[in-house]
Amino acid sequence: MKRTSVFTWILILSLATASAQSHYHSQHEPEEPKLTNLHFFLHEAPGGPNPTVAMIAQSNLTVDVNNSSMPFGTVYAIDDLLRVGSEPNSELIGNAQGLTVIIAGRNTRPSVLLYFDFGFTSGKFNGSSISVLSRNPTTDTERELAVVGGRGKFRRAKGFALLKVYSANATAIIAELNVTVIHYEGRSEF
Ligand SMILES: *[C@@H]1O[C@H](CO)[C@@H](O)[C@H](O)[C@H]1NC(C)=O
Ligand SMILES: *[C@@H]1O[C@H](CO)[C@@H](O)[C@H](O)[C@H]1NC(C)=O
Ligand SMILES: *[C@@H]1O[C@H](CO)[C@@H](O)[C@H](O)[C@H]1NC(C)=O
Ligand SMILES: *[C@@H]1O[C@H](CO)[C@@H](O)[C@H](O)[C@H]1NC(C)=O
Ligand SMILES: *[C@@H]1O[C@H](CO)[C@@H](O)[C@H](O)[C@H]1NC(C)=O
Ligand SMILES: *[C@@H]1O[C@H](CO)[C@@H](O)[C@H](O)[C@H]1NC(C)=O
Repeated sequence: MKRTSVFTWILILSLATASAQSHYHSQHEPEEPKLTNLHFFLHEAPGGPNPTVAMIAQSNLTVDVNNSSMPFGTVYAIDDLLRVGSEPNSELIGNAQGLTVIIAGRNTRPSVLLYFDFGFTSGKFNGSSISVLSRNPTTDTERELAVVGGRGKFRRAKGFALLKVYSANATAIIAELNVTVIHYEGRSEF
């Protein structure tokens, strides 16, 4: 009796091992993609008592003779707020965390390489985020940024973000964003 059950266990274990070894993949019909439009405002504080931008490093090769606010070869950490509206007390829906590298060639218009993770903290997309990795021509008041990926409900997101500066001064930059993404709401098999 005891012997039988031991043999049974050995058989079950070896079958399980064999199946684990031979089934290292599975395939499914692809999930239908979703198209989502988002509209919100980015609130950045470049200065003031609670700045959302901090300089990490600056190249010593760039001599900043004119005290430019965007010296070439500078890296900043960013932790901006995402709100439903342009008013500073408008509903908070997430944050934009990332970094920006000032790429202002001496012979070209000032430009910025931007990495942003737009993370949402309310509603359907709470816990999900969109990754932007793009050139950001800051001298243009209207810009297009590339969306290269996402997490959670934004898995495999691809698309673009249209950004328009709504207002800007030394302590507050407010920008309007329309983000259009094609994404998959995230089946767990991936
Ligand atoms: C920049 O830093 C490097 C490494 O410390 C040093 O060798 C170089 O002389 C510095 N250049 C300037 C312009 O200060
Ligand atoms: C740049 O800033 C420094 C320190 O604030 C100041 O002493 C200098 O005069 C400024 N230079 C110019 C060209 O504005
Ligand atoms: C600094 O500003 C002056 C006056 O606006 C300009 O002529 C000069 O080209 C600037 N220098 C640099 C390195 O940007
Ligand atoms: C968002 O998700 C977090 C973590 O699951 C939860 O603690 C929080 O209450 C949620 N917020 C909203 C507004 O749903
Ligand atoms: C976003 O879309 C709205 C509605 O279509 C439009 O009024 C607004 O100008 C757009 N803003 C940007 C930055 O594209
Ligand atoms: C800067 O802009 C913000 C948002 O529009 C405003 O609340 C603030 O009073 C402005 N600050 C200055 C110094 O103009």
